[in-house]
Amino acid sequence: MQRRDFISGSFALAGTALISPQLMLQTLPTPPALEGGEADENYWNNVRSLYKRPDGFINLENGYFSHQPSSTLAFHQQSEKDINTRTSVFMRKEQQTAIETARTSLAGFLACDAEEIALLRNTTEAMNIVIMGFPWKKGDEVVLGNQDYGSMTEAFRQAAQRFGIVLKYAQVPLRPNNDMEVIEAYTGLFTRKTRMVHLTHLINLSGQVIPVASIAAVAKKRNIMVAVDSAHAVAHLEFGINNLQADFVGASLHKWLCNPLGSGFLWMRKELIPNIWPLMGDTSQPQSNIRRFEHVGTRPIQTLQCIPESIAFHNKIGSALKEKRLRYMMQYWTSKVAKTPKIQINTPWEDATRCGAIANVAIDGYTANQLAEILFAKYRIFTVAIEHPAIHGVRITPHLSNTIEDLDALVTALTEISSG
Ligand SMILES: Cc1ncc(COP(=O)(O)O)c(C=O)c1O
Repeated sequence: MQRRDFISGSFALAGTALISPQLMLQTLPTPPALEGGEADENYWNNVRSLYKRPDGFINLENGYFSHQPSSTLAFHQQSEKDINTRTSVFMRKEQQTAIETARTSLAGFLACDAEEIALLRNTTEAMNIVIMGFPWKKGDEVVLGNQDYGSMTEAFRQAAQRFGIVLKYAQVPLRPNNDMEVIEAYTGLFTRKTRMVHLTHLINLSGQVIPVASIAAVAKKRNIMVAVDSAHAVAHLEFGINNLQADFVGASLHKWLCNPLGSGFLWMRKELIPNIWPLMGDTSQPQSNIRRFEHVGTRPIQTLQCIPESIAFHNKIGSALKEKRLRYMMQYWTSKVAKTPKIQINTPWEDATRCGAIANVAIDGYTANQLAEILFAKYRIFTVAIEHPAIHGVRITPHLSNTIEDLDALVTALTEISSG
């Protein structure tokens, strides 16, 4: 079903008003100017009112997945209903059109060629296609980060067992003083045998943003492939895929784009498509067709149908303003507790080029698990404990559904815990 099909239709939302997703979006006022707009609480309260917040607790763990605004949720429910009514006629005759509509919309959003995007279920699937499908030779070296996401690290370890590749880990500083410290952590490990560098664009553990394009520029000069895990960067930071200078970029759309669960993509430079093996066997598509990576069997198309709707919501705010707001929320609470005795912020939070919404906090005398438990049990604030060799602390991830009052509650909780 196309987005425009909803214009004339209307349906019940949460048993209340009959209103179409487009009308819901129209209730959002024009965004404020970029300068100072990140703190216009009147506007952000309007945005927040499109989200149904959880009862009984404050969710500051939007990094796992981000719930949908009511416009997308309503669209999703209607799509599911529609497919359920159209039955296999939809699946046999119409689903490919729906997929192509989503692909075109996403390509516009990412400023890239639609023929370079495979629509997948998540970042894990996207990066596994690259890691398992790359034509490795025994002894090839890969440089990855010591704080890369577990699923990618595991996939590389399995590829090492299977293909005989050699893994080298860049030690990324938690709070770098400059880009060079991070760039050299990776490029210092490059040798003549390095075939690929794997970069986590925005590190989930700490919220640190990596200078991807600068590292990629060095890699390109040495003919090294650049694979980027942008799970947390897409629809969070403002960037065009082509500016990253990467060869492969994977991301999930159920995180910062607020699309329904189970949606992601893999972007790949066109000339590389024939060289990569799909995870699931596919010989029906031409070797040079990006769709050969989408062969995953029967899947929920309604999730993909929502992509244009999720982009419409995002664009109604604008990438630049959204990024500013997300960083503003992070800096709002970090700036209030950073100097408090016993509190450490494990994120380069003061440097706007190195962070977005996510930050990681630790309190002396508490493990990350203990801190997360107290925050939830006593203060009803949901977060996630990060216990990792490189970082111990609680990850705090606000999103557009949070309020400044939520962050004030966090500041009060952290201050009380640290002084108790
Ligand atoms: C940096 C990073 N990469 C990849 C993933 C995996 O995302 P998904 O579970 O959607 O595949 C995550 C999930 O949190 C992540 O933080």
